[in-house]
Amino acid sequence: MTAKTALVTGANSGMGLATSRELTARGYRVLMACRSQARGEAALRQVEAVGGSGSAELVLCDLADLASIRRFADDVHGRVSTLDVLINNAGVVSPKRQETQDGFELALGVNHLGHFLMTNLLLDLMKTSSDGRIIVVASGAYKAGKIDFEDPHLRQHYNVIRSYGQSKLANILFARELALRVHEQGIVVNSLHPGAVLTQLGVNRGTGFGQGVYRALGKLPAFQTPEEGASTAVYLADSPEVSGISREYFYRSQPHRLNRKAEDDETALRLWEWSEREVGLAP
Ligand SMILES: NC(=O)c1ccc[n+]([C@@H]2O[C@H](COP(=O)([O-])OP(=O)(O)OC[C@H]3O[C@@H](n4cnc5c(N)ncnc54)[C@H](OP(=O)(O)O)[C@@H]3O)[C@@H](O)[C@H]2O)c1
Repeated sequence: MTAKTALVTGANSGMGLATSRELTARGYRVLMACRSQARGEAALRQVEAVGGSGSAELVLCDLADLASIRRFADDVHGRVSTLDVLINNAGVVSPKRQETQDGFELALGVNHLGHFLMTNLLLDLMKTSSDGRIIVVASGAYKAGKIDFEDPHLRQHYNVIRSYGQSKLANILFARELALRVHEQGIVVNSLHPGAVLTQLGVNRGTGFGQGVYRALGKLPAFQTPEEGASTAVYLADSPEVSGISREYFYRSQPHRLNRKAEDDETALRLWEWSEREVGLAP
């Protein structure tokens, strides 16, 4: 039997690395999407060291650069003819306003718009799967978010909560709108909150800025390990129980209630059409 193929973004660290390790151990062919060759190769060695019946490979992609995402999509098309699982896991949070290569506010650009373009460019590969599953790693922080259509890139009044909250609300609205659009092709789309997980989210791995916070947080027992945090994504990717379940938001491997703004289908459609224009996919 041919191995199922899974693509994980942000696969070199935290939950993306834990997810890649687990899916490889379970027999998947895992494409590890990472932006840094060096960090990606180090992560690939860790995944390979676990063994298991699957395999892993590194594919470079900077989600803060639309041209890089387009090159990446071509690269993936050259490697596989079917994609069974896509896990949009990469994420950033920044106390200071930053921009992507294309001038997008960084969190909205990477967490939402980059994944929006990537997912759309890979959809044809998912349509050939008999059990295609798209998993969007969101966050309970969506509750603090609002889609600011007047100033989506937060040029005025930036703060980290508005930025991260908006990007994570966008993740959920995107997953719900996408689920409607791919329903006929038999692809399911779900989002999730992993809980509070001790990873290096927010650490600038170029400079190491922010490491101290994690050394301090590591002493608190309330945080899950990356493996525990990854368990809902692995469940959504691999459990037979999820076949046919779509448009849900999961927490601890269970469907979880969303608040009204995350279930607002008009906002989801408006965000979709705006995102198409931003990334150059609009007809
Ligand atoms: N940790 C939590 O408590 C928590 C709670 C709720 C939701 N989440 C969500 O969980 C997901 C995984 O985060 P984590 O906690 O595992 O953090 P993490 O260890 O910091 O992992 C984030 C990953 O995203 C990658 N990434 C960042 N910018 C990128 C870019 N421009 N292009 C490609 N990849 C990029 C990082 O790569 P580099 O190493 O190159 O930076 C890293 O591999 C995120 O979506 C986050 O929002 C986390």
